[in-house]
Amino acid sequence: MPKTLIEPFRIKSIEPIRMTTRAERERLLEEAKLNVFKLHAEDVLIDWLTDSGTGAMSSRQWGAIMEGDESYAGARSFYRLEAVIQKITGMNFFVPTHQGRAAEKVLFTAVCKQGDVVPNNCHFDTTRANLEYLGVDARDLVIAEGLQPSLIHPFKGNIDLERVEALLKEQGDRIPFGMITVTNNTGGGQPVSMANIRAYAALLKQHGKPFIMDVCRFSENAMFIKMREPGYEHTPIRDIVKEMFSYADAATMSAKKDGMVNIGGFIVLRREEWMDAVRNVLILTEGFPTYGGLAGRDLEALAVGLEEGMDEDYLRYRLRTAEYLGERLEAAGVGFVRPTGGHAVYLDARTVLPDMPVAHYPAWALCNALYLEGGIRGVEIGSVMFGKRLDDGTETYHSMELVRLAFPRRMYTQSHFDYAAEVIDEVKQQAAGIRGVRITKQPPFLRHFTCKCAWVDR
Ligand code: F0G
Repeated sequence: MPKTLIEPFRIKSIEPIRMTTRAERERLLEEAKLNVFKLHAEDVLIDWLTDSGTGAMSSRQWGAIMEGDESYAGARSFYRLEAVIQKITGMNFFVPTHQGRAAEKVLFTAVCKQGDVVPNNCHFDTTRANLEYLGVDARDLVIAEGLQPSLIHPFKGNIDLERVEALLKEQGDRIPFGMITVTNNTGGGQPVSMANIRAYAALLKQHGKPFIMDVCRFSENAMFIKMREPGYEHTPIRDIVKEMFSYADAATMSAKKDGMVNIGGFIVLRREEWMDAVRNVLILTEGFPTYGGLAGRDLEALAVGLEEGMDEDYLRYRLRTAEYLGERLEAAGVGFVRPTGGHAVYLDARTVLPDMPVAHYPAWALCNALYLEGGIRGVEIGSVMFGKRLDDGTETYHSMELVRLAFPRRMYTQSHFDYAAEVIDEVKQQAAGIRGVRITKQPPFLRHFTCKCAWVDR
């Protein structure tokens, strides 16, 4: 048997990428005030900013788009998607939303109140922001192993059940439900085991609390379970997915990930009791419950995409892609969050720029260097994203300096990954010449999106 795991598809429609020279990229990055978010996508060779809504759709999805029923109410496309989601999740009550954060906003507005506390392994930024906006305390209770980048553990996304139990005992009356995020994006795209999901659900049930899953990357999580959790080696992905959902009372989904579409999301509920409240907020903010802010054609593409995302050959190739880049990084002596996650590889900037002071934002500097050297765009997850400038002019810094390279689905081939590995290797060789940055202009919140920077003097 040949060992190479090939892309399990062939290319039918292509999108050219524009080659740029180093001199051009230097000018473009200066014009973007050393902030890759401000680059025009056309000036990026390999765009690994996010895996969200950036993937390639299949010919079957494009075919389904032509069948979209654009009726305002009761469209055929809604019922088609509803049937697919009911079958996958085993839950009956479904509404579409335009993307994941809308699902969060609608569901939380319907069921949370000020002063509540919600446990999760790690809340994604928008999940946290939507809860905090309602005055809810969002608690991250991932296991300790999940916070150590170089430590190998099969399920670094697991939630710490002892801490959950303590929280339930101490503040149970403030907890409206428990959440878990699969895979744990904030913690490095790390999976949650079936045993952990099952035990967490049982604990919540014992305390009479509903269990909500953030299922953006449920198929990737299921594949990790198949590959790593004893007893599931021979279980079909669909059955693993079904079991995962069987423990939940509700789920929110950004379909821009494992839904394999460019836009979309949904809420699915096991029981009808929250449905009236959900429908009311949905109509106010997203649209009528049979389209929820999407076009009929989007619903069709999602109905096909959810099925395609569970294909085992695809998932095996998908997880292998990240692992392969990890092996290349290892050979180059570049540190990264281990083991590699499902949708992304997180570079540890400190292993490339060990001498750069944190005040010069090493992960931001590495991100810029990847663009300058090879036209690759990643995202800084470090002190620009999570640090803060305080009123007295001093700064707080993040505990880690990471660069996330997130892979759009079915988009880049192995040679793109080989190229990226060479670029990263080259950047490491030339690390002495990489310059840090200072922030010259920043907004009070989410500064990484819009801040302007300048090089620090060498
Ligand atoms: N939950 C998780 C775990 C996510 O990763 C995201 C989005 C969302 C919710 C929100 O979904 O973007 O459709 O509103 N993550 C993207 C990322 C943006 O780049 O990781 P959305």
